[in-house]
Amino acid sequence: MIRLENITKVFNQGTVNETTALRGINLHVREGDFITIVGSNGAGKTTLFNTIAGTYFPTGGEIYFNNINVTKMPEYKRAKFIGRIFQDPLLGTASNMSLEDNMMICYKKGFKGLKISLNNKMREKFREELKLLDMGLEDRMEHNLQLFSGGQRQALTLLMTVISHPDLILLDEHTAALDPKNAALILDLTDRFITEKKLTAMMITHNMSHAIKYGNRILMMHKGEIVLDIEGEEKKNLTVDGLVKKFYDVKHEELTNDELLMSHE
Ligand SMILES: Nc1ncnc2c1ncn2[C@@H]1O[C@H](COP(=O)(O)OP(=O)(O)O)[C@@H](O)[C@H]1O
Ligand SMILES: [Mg+2]
Repeated sequence: MIRLENITKVFNQGTVNETTALRGINLHVREGDFITIVGSNGAGKTTLFNTIAGTYFPTGGEIYFNNINVTKMPEYKRAKFIGRIFQDPLLGTASNMSLEDNMMICYKKGFKGLKISLNNKMREKFREELKLLDMGLEDRMEHNLQLFSGGQRQALTLLMTVISHPDLILLDEHTAALDPKNAALILDLTDRFITEKKLTAMMITHNMSHAIKYGNRILMMHKGEIVLDIEGEEKKNLTVDGLVKKFYDVKHEELTNDELLMSHE
């Protein structure tokens, strides 16, 4: 479905601030893959998403979507088939609009070209979908989103992303700004949506146990490279200690990032 061939990304090339964020990434994401991604700060995880989404063009290499070369396709065009969720709950939804208006925008995105407007039938549909979140939001459809909590906003962003039927969902530490209870709730919701609707998704997390628990495939990134790519039975049987050991076996380096190692749980 998505193929990255020898992707490199160099920032500020030729200056004293030159940084190589991606070093020859080769990756084939298959339809239905739910890939979790871990790696220390600065490993290139967000840059990988930015190159897939077209926020930046790579310095070298090619990107294919269903065998179409999209390497130079601008971000707004790719946004039609890529849904992206960020750490900040305020980014996914429009604060000054009501919940139902926000949902309507997503619907229109999901059913391209279909002439639909907000009527009672649509409202009933939204109500049913909001019930899936189990937060009582189905009774607050006329409220402006600025009245909702971070956890509620992130749950809505997730729901609306799913409604818009993207071919690929990119989640970049989308629970990191939430308290532990809401983070767990959003994570379970994410897993439920992706699994039940058989979506293709990539999820960055700094929590290694979450990365192991969710998805069918785990990538570890380190200094701009994918150093581990584990799936199937091997992924199912993985433990945090096992992951740390595998990293050592390939890199002959200890994992040093505190954030990554402290999030054992
Ligand atoms: N827009 C940018 N301009 C310059 N350097 C950047 C930019 N974005 C990322 N980098 C650098 O690229 C490297 C990888 O960053 P990033 O992809 O954000 O890592 P991660 O998400 O794994 O923490 C870091 O060294 C970072 O400073
Ligand atoms: Mg990042």
